[in-house]
Amino acid sequence: MMARVLVVGAAGLLGRYVVRAFAREHEVWAMRRTDLDVRDREQVERVLRTVRPQLVINCAAISDVDLCERDPGLAFQVNAEGPRHLAEVCREIEAALVHISTDYVFDGRKRKPYTIADPPCPINRYGASKWAGEEAVRRTWERHYIIRAARLFGFGGRNFASSLPLLLRTRTSLPAIVDEVGSPTYAADLATRIAEILARGQPGTYHVTNSGACSWYEFACEVARQLGCEGVRIEPVRSADLNRPAERPLYTVLRCLLSEQLGLTPLRLWSLALRDFLEEVRSHGALR
Ligand SMILES: NC(=O)c1ccc[n+]([C@@H]2O[C@H](COP(=O)([O-])OP(=O)(O)OC[C@H]3O[C@@H](n4cnc5c(N)ncnc54)[C@H](OP(=O)(O)O)[C@@H]3O)[C@@H](O)[C@H]2O)c1
Repeated sequence: MMARVLVVGAAGLLGRYVVRAFAREHEVWAMRRTDLDVRDREQVERVLRTVRPQLVINCAAISDVDLCERDPGLAFQVNAEGPRHLAEVCREIEAALVHISTDYVFDGRKRKPYTIADPPCPINRYGASKWAGEEAVRRTWERHYIIRAARLFGFGGRNFASSLPLLLRTRTSLPAIVDEVGSPTYAADLATRIAEILARGQPGTYHVTNSGACSWYEFACEVARQLGCEGVRIEPVRSADLNRPAERPLYTVLRCLLSEQLGLTPLRLWSLALRDFLEEVRSHGALR
């Protein structure tokens, strides 16, 4: 059934894919930061009461992990207070709320895939702010779908994974981390899966990534292989050697108990999703 859907953070990497995926079947209101700033409780109330959506999808975040470490005030305002504002107003207007979270709520010390039964224990401020946002949503409004994603890649993204095709086409060498392992996830696949989860109507906490796991080094090598850029020297580096402001969890592979229970099949392998991403990049003429 067609619904009125309001997407927050609609100009971001995931937001753009979500808008496109939901616009196929729903009336979508795409809100960029300049249209709706989640830090502003009054604005959140005004916009949601005007649009009256049946569903709100929150893709807004400060997703730059090192920026969060340098400016934890901003991180907590956007990643924790923002979702609380949305959950409060969604409760008032009885709209379901999808809130996107992250594998970085975990400390990365486990060597088996994390499930929703594993207690979060963030090791940086990004993870801590996202965990606080999840908890605010859980406490506030029961019709929530908290979806933990990981290592997103997609066209127009500003992060390492999304920038790799262009980096590999323009550089002769590139450092890539060997000891951070997780599951790269195509934002298009995540957007489609969000719709599939909503169709099941079972609120709760979900883990959604493409299948398979790799280090950033392995990911970069596969991107280079698929692009035919094998001449680029990909230099293995260790996470700790980069001296970044924020420490990263070293292992964040996720397993989704709730999807298994609902009979949702695992998303395809990340290396297959990568093919479609690179095709999308080529179709935009972004690699010429
Ligand atoms: N990227 C990843 O690898 C990754 C991994 C796991 C989970 N996630 C989660 O996935 C979600 C989407 O991430 P993404 O990669 O799409 O991030 P993104 O590309 O950085 O997009 C986030 C969007 O949020 C907007 N925003 C920032 N502050 C805001 C505010 N105060 N009010 C409203 N909007 C605001 C940004 O707008 P401006 O650009 O104008 O500031 C941007 O358009 C986030 O919850 C993130 O934590 C991401």
